[in-house]
Amino acid sequence: MAHAAPVCARLPPWRVLLLLLALLAFSCFALTRFPAAGAPLAALIAASSPAAGGSGRESCAGFYRGEGAGGRRAASASVEEFGAVGDGVTSNTAAFRRAVAALEQRAAAAGGGAMLEVPPGRWLTGSFNLTSRFTLFLHHGAVILGSQDPEEWPLIAPLPSYGRGRERLGPRHISLIHGENLDDVVITGSNGTIDGQGRMWWELWWNRTLNHTRGHLIELVNSTNVMISNVTLRNSPFWTVHPVYCRNVVIKDLTILAPLNAPNTDGIDPDSSSDVCIEDCYIESGDDLVAIKSGWDQYGISVNKPSTNIIIQRVSGTTPTCSGVGIGSEMSGGVSGVLIRDLHVWNSASAVRIKTDVGRGGFVTNVTVANVTMERVKVPIRFSRGSDDHSDDKYDRTALPTISDVRIVDIVGVDVQRAPILEAVHGAVYEGICFRNVSLRLREEVRRRHAGWQCESVYGEAHGVFPEACEELRHNGSSSWCGLS
Ligand SMILES: *[C@@H]1O[C@H](CO)[C@@H](O)[C@H](O)[C@H]1NC(C)=O
Ligand SMILES: *[C@@H]1O[C@H](CO)[C@@H](O)[C@H](O)[C@H]1NC(C)=O
Ligand SMILES: *[C@@H]1O[C@H](CO)[C@@H](O)[C@H](O)[C@H]1NC(C)=O
Ligand SMILES: *[C@@H]1O[C@H](CO)[C@@H](O)[C@H](O)[C@H]1NC(C)=O
Ligand SMILES: *[C@@H]1O[C@H](CO)[C@@H](O)[C@H](O)[C@H]1NC(C)=O
Ligand SMILES: *[C@@H]1O[C@H](CO)[C@@H](O)[C@H](O)[C@H]1NC(C)=O
Ligand SMILES: *[C@@H]1O[C@H](CO)[C@@H](O)[C@H](O)[C@H]1NC(C)=O
Ligand SMILES: *[C@@H]1O[C@H](CO)[C@@H](O)[C@H](O)[C@H]1NC(C)=O
Ligand SMILES: *[C@@H]1O[C@H](CO)[C@@H](O)[C@H](O)[C@H]1NC(C)=O
Ligand SMILES: *[C@@H]1O[C@H](CO)[C@@H](O)[C@H](O)[C@H]1NC(C)=O
Repeated sequence: MAHAAPVCARLPPWRVLLLLLALLAFSCFALTRFPAAGAPLAALIAASSPAAGGSGRESCAGFYRGEGAGGRRAASASVEEFGAVGDGVTSNTAAFRRAVAALEQRAAAAGGGAMLEVPPGRWLTGSFNLTSRFTLFLHHGAVILGSQDPEEWPLIAPLPSYGRGRERLGPRHISLIHGENLDDVVITGSNGTIDGQGRMWWELWWNRTLNHTRGHLIELVNSTNVMISNVTLRNSPFWTVHPVYCRNVVIKDLTILAPLNAPNTDGIDPDSSSDVCIEDCYIESGDDLVAIKSGWDQYGISVNKPSTNIIIQRVSGTTPTCSGVGIGSEMSGGVSGVLIRDLHVWNSASAVRIKTDVGRGGFVTNVTVANVTMERVKVPIRFSRGSDDHSDDKYDRTALPTISDVRIVDIVGVDVQRAPILEAVHGAVYEGICFRNVSLRLREEVRRRHAGWQCESVYGEAHGVFPEACEELRHNGSSSWCGLS
């Protein structure tokens, strides 16, 4: 069975060298062939003008329009009432499932929603499903522990926009906490913990003995008005929080932790979802802190559900081989209307990265990145090609992604290892890329060698940028769309 490469795998050094040489040669060639872009986008951007720059303390939590924000629900009960034992050893899967079902009934009788409380203790469980108009509340000292028995994470159908499990063909393990076709679902508390105990799954991955795609810690599918706040999420087997085909999602005041080498433990992955607010989160993990996605190759293209109107603000953290915020690499349904601001990233491979590939199709447009600070980052801003990571060999080799209208402003980096690398996928041209007020101080010992921006088939403008931008971004054009009047 094929063993897909982890999303942020590093190339061996000799391949990097070859790649660099090839790119250098190609970028000189490309320069003479394509005109710089920008003017046609000016009207579009002037019409939208999202408020760039620092945000103060504005909140986007209003995206959640359910009735559970204040913690009030018509019916409530502790999981202990359903026979759960918080000893860290007893499996409470049946108790959690009974509790959700019983509360659903009681809430219906009371004409409202329900809240399931988890008191202090260590509550071992397999996967369970949430329901609508429902709050899962973890008190301080409450720890939900993911079962170590793979059968307690049963298999479910793959997502239509992926066509298969992300890591293995066929079905995938369900998430520990799961919800499908719901409205108004809240996971919150006074900083209780959900610990997926993912090591067993990482070992299956490392040992190449994984039979089916790993489960997420929390997944909501086709749901509206989702709020996840004030909890600590640890050791997810796979991506930690995965809202997919969702609308009106708020994810705030979370601490997300996984070992820095834990494979594919992304923090938060909004996927084919709209009106998503992610704010005030601290994340350290083995993959992207946040990754915006929208399906994979021909499956994502045919499902055609973009991720749109996504706000990511005041996120901070570290991930040694991946990015603060990534867009892609699965973005085949399209990504638009993204605001990323007040991001702080350190000891990471990249602060912001757009990853796509041939065969993805789709688009990434109207993206604003503002006020990013970073320390000890390898490639501060990166547009990269995928590593030939496809769902199967039936992807359309002519399906190129369209990347346009990306503004990157007010960026400060110290001790970075090189200038930005901006490479379009082969055959594509990225247009309307704006950099303004970017200051990147390179680490002393690499300052001479790596101060040059590496651009290939990427065009736009740069104003007030240090070190000096590549030739492709020096065309000043009409500057209004780049935030200058
Ligand atoms: C920029 O982001 C940082 C957090 O990384 C925040 O402390 C600072 O207030 C922001 N600046 C502005 C002008 O909002
Ligand atoms: C949970 O939901 C999934 C997806 O809807 C379903 O396949 C599974 O049977 C449900 N599990 C339980 C215990 O109801
Ligand atoms: C999504 O959820 C809505 C509301 O529950 C439901 O009507 C619809 O059938 C669901 N769509 C799919 C594809 O399951
Ligand atoms: C959630 O966290 C925020 C920020 O730390 C805090 O203001 C709020 O009171 C917390 N809510 C609860 C229910 O603990
Ligand atoms: C919540 O708990 C985590 C892990 O113990 C801790 O790092 C974080 O500071 C806590 N958050 C709050 C708001 O107390
Ligand atoms: C993976 O391999 C390691 C070392 O060979 C072993 O200790 C561990 O039990 C294996 N893990 C699984 C889940 O098979
Ligand atoms: C994977 O499949 C093999 C062979 O069917 C089986 O022995 C093993 O228990 C399975 N592993 C898991 C984690 O389900
Ligand atoms: C661009 O994205 C922002 C959100 O960042 C949104 O408010 C605005 O309406 C979008 N503009 C267009 C033209 O879609
Ligand atoms: C440039 O960006 C930095 C970091 O956000 C900010 O502190 C500074 O005020 C900005 N300068 C201008 C001229 O906008
Ligand atoms: C481009 O802008 C810079 C200042 O940002 C200015 O010095 C330069 O003359 C401009 N070049 C053209 C061709 O307009």
